Amino acid sequence: MLSIAQYREVFSEYLESQIKVREPRNLYEPMVYILSQGGKRLRPVLLLMATEIFNTDYRKALDAALAIEIFHNFSLVHDDIMDDAPIRRGKLTVHEKWGINTGILSGDAMLINAYQLFETYEGNIFKELAQLFSKTATQVCEGQQYDIDFETREDVSIEEYIKMIEYKTAVLIGASLQMGAIVAEESPECKEAIYQYGRYLGIAFQLQDDYLDAFGDPETFGKQPGGDIIENKKTFLYLKALESSGRSEAQQLVHLYSINPGENSEKIEAVKNIFQSSGAAEQTRQEIEKYTQQAFTILEEINISEEKKEPLRKFGESLMERQV
Ligand code: IPE
Ligand code: IPE
Ligand code: MG
Ligand code: MG
Ligand code: MG
Repeated sequence: MLSIAQYREVFSEYLESQIKVREPRNLYEPMVYILSQGGKRLRPVLLLMATEIFNTDYRKALDAALAIEIFHNFSLVHDDIMDDAPIRRGKLTVHEKWGINTGILSGDAMLINAYQLFETYEGNIFKELAQLFSKTATQVCEGQQYDIDFETREDVSIEEYIKMIEYKTAVLIGASLQMGAIVAEESPECKEAIYQYGRYLGIAFQLQDDYLDAFGDPETFGKQPGGDIIENKKTFLYLKALESSGRSEAQQLVHLYSINPGENSEKIEAVKNIFQSSGAAEQTRQEIEKYTQQAFTILEEINISEEKKEPLRKFGESLMERQV
């Protein structure tokens, strides 16, 4: 097996060899722009790792990995329109640079391109990959709709929030790992277990994303600081803070979240103070730990050698510590 850094490297090389600007430039330039910015390449790396963990050459999985990374970047282009986000990975978002119409259409082309990449597989592998992809992409749309619906709802429960992040984020991470098992033609039990490992890791990952959105270092995080607070996102931080605050602090928080979007540094500071003083920030850290541990518990049960579990464990641990 290669190291995590090596999988990232071989994947990036493959991506660069496959993704080129074509005519019409205004359709493909944004696609190359977002895909060449890097990012962590978490999902393709997991997919390639899973393939090799299940004793198959990672090269067989490169097109599936590329499909997943293109789909992920498509979802970011549309997500940034929906979240009115100006900055991603430290650069202007696609719709800020080219306009909303281009963002929509380039995104659509990326989604189609992602599907096309599965055509390089045959028979059962093709069928299983395409089925999993369609199911997952539909869930991502559902999760994204819940995310938007929750902005204007005041009775969102923590359970609903967890389901929302499971759909918008965690299932794609689970699917990436499962695709590795599909390419490796593994048993149904392994396919299911590796999916569940990714799903738990994905929930921890989105909790961490929400945490960093408020408390990360804006330099390294690469997104607008406090973007979720500006958009009144009902994150775990917010829901826990409401639950754990006294009445007047809770009322203040609800009031702050009724102030409509627009950059407002006083609003961001006041909300972050409540996230801290209520203990919600600390509880979020614990929740990230909890879901990561659940992922590790599932990993224990997978029928692979200790030596093969180790890189997956390392990966989970590195996600908890990430600042990006
Ligand atoms: C951002 O995903 C969207 C979420 C699901 C939180 P990543 O944090 O994986 O984004 P990049 O690709 O590394 O920039
Ligand atoms: C994004 O969630 C999930 C998807 C793109 C499907 P966020 O809206 O939190 O992602 P970021 O923070 O903009 O990367
Ligand atoms: Mg967003
Ligand atoms: Mg969003
Ligand atoms: Mg976010």
